[in-house]
Amino acid sequence: MQILLGALVCLFLATSGNALYCEVCTSFGTSCTGSLQTCKDGNDTCIIAVAENTLVGQTLQTITKGCVSSSICKAGLTSMNFGQGKKIRSSTICCVGEACRTAVPQIPPLISQTNGKQCPACYAVSPSSCNEDEIVECVGSEDSCLDMAVTVTYGTFVVKTLQKGCVTKSVCDDIKTGETEMNEVHSFITKATCTAASSLA
Ligand SMILES: *[C@@H]1O[C@H](CO)[C@@H](O)[C@H](O)[C@H]1NC(C)=O
Repeated sequence: MQILLGALVCLFLATSGNALYCEVCTSFGTSCTGSLQTCKDGNDTCIIAVAENTLVGQTLQTITKGCVSSSICKAGLTSMNFGQGKKIRSSTICCVGEACRTAVPQIPPLISQTNGKQCPACYAVSPSSCNEDEIVECVGSEDSCLDMAVTVTYGTFVVKTLQKGCVTKSVCDDIKTGETEMNEVHSFITKATCTAASSLA
């Protein structure tokens, strides 16, 4: 009996005691390689996220891989449009083990075809603020209006942004107020409201 119990305990430790490991890296471009790191408890999946943004006036592609909680895995393909040419498109894949080695998220194609909907628009980095009467026309499958305030901290670097615009519903499914942390980048979302985009007047 003791031997059997001992064997069962060993089996248990060998299977469920296995920590999750994820590759961790962040880079410009669409590929990066990093070391495998042990995820913290509560971070139950690896993520690979690629994005293209035009927030600083030029087009930047970024990739990040790391450990997250699977509660943020819903987004998949997203598109956000803050007006004045400021846009973000992204694709995320959550995976564990072998699946992460073959997963290759692709940045969703750029769609410029407007869809007849509109949202209040703004992308402001503190201390700038939003111009209240700006609007943006939604493109592609963007059907929701996001109004978000987020403070991003990386080491001693702190940026506060206000982001309003057209987004795909997938963005709204994932975003909620609170703190998240990945690869030492700490994001604190202090406001996140989504409403259905209205039709152009
Ligand atoms: C797990 O990852 C998320 C990001 O999805 C982070 O916000 C959270 O703090 C992490 N949880 C733990 C317990 O490390």
